[in-house]
Amino acid sequence: MFSPEGFVKESIAALREEVDDIAVIACSGGVDSTVAAVIADIAVGQLLHCVYVDTGFMRKNETEEIQEMLAGIGLNLTVIHAEDRYFAALEGITEPEQKRKVIGELFIRIFEEEQDEVGAKYLIQGTIAPDWIESGGGARDTIKSHHNVGGLPEDMSLVVVEPLRDLYKDEVREVGHFLNLESSNRQPFPGPGLAVRCLGDLTPARVEVTREACAIVEEELEAAAQRGEMELPWQYFAALLPVKSVGVHGDVRAYGETVVVRAVTSIDGMSARYSPIPHSVLTKISTRITNAVKGSVNRIVYDITNKPPGTIEWE
Ligand code: XMP
Repeated sequence: MFSPEGFVKESIAALREEVDDIAVIACSGGVDSTVAAVIADIAVGQLLHCVYVDTGFMRKNETEEIQEMLAGIGLNLTVIHAEDRYFAALEGITEPEQKRKVIGELFIRIFEEEQDEVGAKYLIQGTIAPDWIESGGGARDTIKSHHNVGGLPEDMSLVVVEPLRDLYKDEVREVGHFLNLESSNRQPFPGPGLAVRCLGDLTPARVEVTREACAIVEEELEAAAQRGEMELPWQYFAALLPVKSVGVHGDVRAYGETVVVRAVTSIDGMSARYSPIPHSVLTKISTRITNAVKGSVNRIVYDITNKPPGTIEWE
């Protein structure tokens, strides 16, 4: 049986063995990278520089909330604003794997710049087992290149250290609870962020629509779970689809895009079942999203696909 206490002890010893020079750690505020950062801080805190990259694909208010949360657990964070660089690098790119590769590469380039700044040799990441399993290699097919694995460029000079590499999500959560981390209860959020929830052109305006729709789905499902109308799903969000349909606003014709509502139950993200959402909650979500992003979206659909055959995210 998995022992979070044993895992923490072993990882601290292993990190002390492996990391003998300055290290930057990529911290997104999610459970994986926060657990990795806290363990690394205990193990080699004096060598550690904690870096958060704002890609422009974070959720509503997320950068501020994460800064506060990480400061609360004593991690000193350098925030790098790279929103413009990400939008420029992704201009015209809509193919999901290419998108993930560009995001992964830019992520490493930014860390290499930070490496020059602080003289780092190592990059510590919160990679977990499904990240490298789904990224393919060997006899495994590439389901999707997780930006922290399959998206890494070949010529990178940082030495990558991955203390959580063999863990699954439920085990990382157990370690997070053992370390008393508030982030252990956060729902998973993909490394490439809203970029893989905004299908089609990644423009600031379309990402903003995705961000608003995601925030509404999160708020409504959390409120419904609080009222006891449903179980809070394992993961829940919205994605923007580049599919236009005809609608009507007042008595004026509209031609807008589509938002899909996705909610799933899972244990480790490797397989999942779609979560039933009560119709009254779906109705509220639909009305709120179409009102909030008037004109750009005029149709809301509900994804009822399990994994397999779907995946949790749409890209
Ligand atoms: P899929 O969409 O493959 O996702 O069924 C399984 C779980 O992994 C998350 N996910 C990612 N996490 N980097 C991450 O750290 C990524 O590139 C990535 N892509 C998907 C997804 O949100 C779900 O929880």
